[in-house]
Amino acid sequence: MKIDGTHYRSIWRTAEGRVEIIDQRWLPHELRIVALETRADVAAAIREMWVRGAPLIGATAAYGVAVQMAHDPSDASLAETWEVLHATRPTAINLRWALDEMRRILQPMAPADRADAAFRRAGEICDEDVEINRRIGENGLAIIRDIAARKGGGRVNVLTHCNAGWLATVDWGTATSPIYHAVEAGIDVHVFVDETRPRNQGAHLTAWEMNHHGVSHDLIVDNAGGHLMQHGEVDLCIVGTDRTTARGDVCNKIGTYLKALAAQANGVPFYVALPSPTIDWTVSDGVREIPIEERGQDEVTHVQGRLEDGRIGHVLISPDGTPARNPAFDVTPAALVTGLITERGVAEASAAGLAAMFAERAVG
Ligand code: MRU
Repeated sequence: MKIDGTHYRSIWRTAEGRVEIIDQRWLPHELRIVALETRADVAAAIREMWVRGAPLIGATAAYGVAVQMAHDPSDASLAETWEVLHATRPTAINLRWALDEMRRILQPMAPADRADAAFRRAGEICDEDVEINRRIGENGLAIIRDIAARKGGGRVNVLTHCNAGWLATVDWGTATSPIYHAVEAGIDVHVFVDETRPRNQGAHLTAWEMNHHGVSHDLIVDNAGGHLMQHGEVDLCIVGTDRTTARGDVCNKIGTYLKALAAQANGVPFYVALPSPTIDWTVSDGVREIPIEERGQDEVTHVQGRLEDGRIGHVLISPDGTPARNPAFDVTPAALVTGLITERGVAEASAAGLAAMFAERAVG
């Protein structure tokens, strides 16, 4: 997407062959670009959330394999790289998907051919992600268009949680792609952006995206969504996902489940934008089978922002030494999901719905 007239992706390869990313830790205050030169850089970038969002984590891991193949293309190095990068974050399934895909094409090759092939495939994974998200945008646009028509062309109010925007993917975003497409189609769209404690991806990243792309929006605290739904101020919710099971249970940023409960209680449609690499066909019961990342206590006891002296830093908001729990994701059962907006169309959130949409991939 364009930032001040320049088109950015969230990750790219320069003409000189360097892999570069937007270091998201500094947004919205500073747009910093860094190069990932080694496997250790890539592992740190994923683990410490310089990049984040399931599709972007997958794309970055693919480039991590390529960077390592340029350094050491041996069988042992390929096997170790899968393990090292897979251990960076546990929940987003795109990480495993991308690593499996890279290993699948590289393993049968002679080591001398691996680096070029790995960079090529990582670039393709990025391009495929952009195309998948563009199509999710078109399929989600139809839902927004319908609601706008029902409201006689009136404003469509969308609530979203976390950042499932172009920063979380390679471009377009998943949950934001229908919004960007609707804005381009001239539909009057307004977005309620959940701040998304503790890391505030909504306040830091989604609000930044909405600002730069001229999308009407309000930042709201995480506790406001239920109230707004109760008062008819939300026409639909669209969120992203880090892993969706074969029966349509949706794992996403912590707090998504509460929004889905509020949506159901108030008759608000709750859609999930789901690129197919985010489907984990090997699991069914999301609550019991998906590993939920537990992050550090300091993310709960502190808040990051621009300090009065202009520096970017953290502020303690609880008594010193307060113990905290920090589960980073939760699971919304399929029964609470109105539909899964995929690149092939809108699927029912059920085993039958997903299997019908992706017949060639469904297991069993
Ligand atoms: O911890 P993060 O920032 O990597 O988590 C990202 C999310 O949970 C997003 O909501 C997103 O929908 C998944 S990526 C499109």
